[in-house]
Amino acid sequence: MEANQKKEVRALKHFWYLRTWLKALLVFLSSTSFFSPASCYSFDYKQALSLSLLYFESQRSGHLPHNQRVTWRHHSGLTDGLEQGVDLVGGYYDAGDNVKFGLPMAFTITLLSWGVIEYGDLIASAGEYSHALEAIKWGTDYFIKAHTHPHVLWAQVGDGGTDHYCWQRPEDMTTSRRAYKLDADNPGSEVAGETAAAMAAASIVFRRTNPHYSHLLLQHAQQLFEFGDKYRGKYDESIGVAKGYYSSVSGYRDELLWAAIWLYKATENEEYLKYVLQNAYDFGGTTWAVAEFSWDIKYAGLQSIASMLLMEGEKHKGQSRVILQQYRSKAEHYLCACLGQNNSTNVHRTPGGLLYVRQWNNMQYVSTASLLLTVYSDHLRAAGQRLHCDKGDVSPQEILAFAKSQVDYILGSNPTERSYLVGYGPHFPMRVHHRGASMESYKENMGFIGCTQGYDNWYGRHDPNPNVLTGALVGGPNSTDGFRDERGNYVQTEACTYNTAALVGVFARLNRVQEEDAFKDEEGGYLALISDN
Ligand SMILES: *[C@@H]1O[C@H](CO)[C@@H](O)[C@H](O)[C@H]1NC(C)=O
Ligand SMILES: *[C@@H]1O[C@H](CO)[C@@H](O)[C@H](O)[C@H]1NC(C)=O
Ligand SMILES: *[C@@H]1O[C@H](CO)[C@@H](O)[C@H](O)[C@H]1NC(C)=O
Repeated sequence: MEANQKKEVRALKHFWYLRTWLKALLVFLSSTSFFSPASCYSFDYKQALSLSLLYFESQRSGHLPHNQRVTWRHHSGLTDGLEQGVDLVGGYYDAGDNVKFGLPMAFTITLLSWGVIEYGDLIASAGEYSHALEAIKWGTDYFIKAHTHPHVLWAQVGDGGTDHYCWQRPEDMTTSRRAYKLDADNPGSEVAGETAAAMAAASIVFRRTNPHYSHLLLQHAQQLFEFGDKYRGKYDESIGVAKGYYSSVSGYRDELLWAAIWLYKATENEEYLKYVLQNAYDFGGTTWAVAEFSWDIKYAGLQSIASMLLMEGEKHKGQSRVILQQYRSKAEHYLCACLGQNNSTNVHRTPGGLLYVRQWNNMQYVSTASLLLTVYSDHLRAAGQRLHCDKGDVSPQEILAFAKSQVDYILGSNPTERSYLVGYGPHFPMRVHHRGASMESYKENMGFIGCTQGYDNWYGRHDPNPNVLTGALVGGPNSTDGFRDERGNYVQTEACTYNTAALVGVFARLNRVQEEDAFKDEEGGYLALISDN
């Protein structure tokens, strides 16, 4: 960055400081809310939304299309599945390596689809609708290929062991591309369930713009759910190489309920709701109150959707209503624990205010919590309700304000004044733990970079990555807001597709808040910072 450009940025920053401090002061004087805003920045959520969708193009495997915008990437994995006689070209690399892991890939697509279902109109008004749909379709096209038979799902290509031994661009891969499948003898209900959820959610997304494709996705989703339910088993026992990378700790019962509730949303077929209600207790849906929502543990998402069914009115009666209320009580525990309003246990926070679940890739829990809080707050508002927590009721506006505080932390409102969304703002991680981004672009140097050559020549360099992994949300800071921007520090500098996926809809939602705030500023309303209706 040029020196005078820097000065301009600084001057602009000062202006924002002054303006937002004034606003904050006025808000403080006129409000007694315990959720008063801590942010002294103003963020461009629309830009964050655009960047976040670019990230999925960096993670693409397979034959890249002509309209590929991330130009440092090229075709890769073009023989995936060949050894086994199946076409598994396409899909996404999950993080900084070149393995295609089925479970996190499916969760990524479920999250992206959910964001579009809730906030598709806002994504469209920000001009990003087609990019969002492309990001989803890159995943669902692959799932269609991977689901070769009603009871066969190819759930992984490559393996962490041989992949991690090398540091290679995906375009150069010489590592094993062996594919692993699930079938009746080798069941894997987590991946079958999550892929069913992803395809059911995506079928809702494509219903209007591509009804034929939507119908196809729904058919696959129904078959996959039936497969996962009929042949129950833990996927990492069938695919041993997934262990140690994406081991299923919570088992598959959450994914089966999660798939069923998405299928209910997609079809309104009462049989799926019946499944969610009848298995609620045995499968832990109404007994677990877990303070994380992740590729492994879907309970909080399931419970939130079940609660939102209740908010739709009196449609569900009698015993169904009772069970949905039990789901709701667990959803409330999750949300209240995130908000710090639960009596017994709350989610920890860093001194800077970031939700903190655990050291390794903590941002995944922050982004999924932001999505659940944002969506829940909008459904509460539409129903004219409030969230009941041990410490008192919380309004939809306060829930949204808290979600915003988490997103603002991600974008730079934090003690190190660093954005954790790569490419956003003046200061962001430069040494993301990512094979492709850390090495010279294949487009610039097509010379082969061998397995250990990548480690020797690129991995240990102090220089920033030659390619910016735009839109990636990295693992993030430690429990005291500290962050070491080093390529080897994968606990903090690696990014994953499901981190960013949860934020897409949230960025679109916050962009709307901001547009409304700007309008209110013109009217002279200073309360705009905390209230958005
Ligand atoms: C919130 O508190 C309740 C008890 O009031 C507890 O059962 C629940 O596990 C807590 N929720 C979380 C997510 O920790
Ligand atoms: C939460 O704690 C407060 C204060 O200790 C107490 O008055 C209240 O009854 C508790 N609520 C629940 C649901 O346990
Ligand atoms: C967090 O990271 C900072 C910067 O690397 C370090 O100084 C601090 O000790 C770390 N805190 C913990 C609890 O590890």
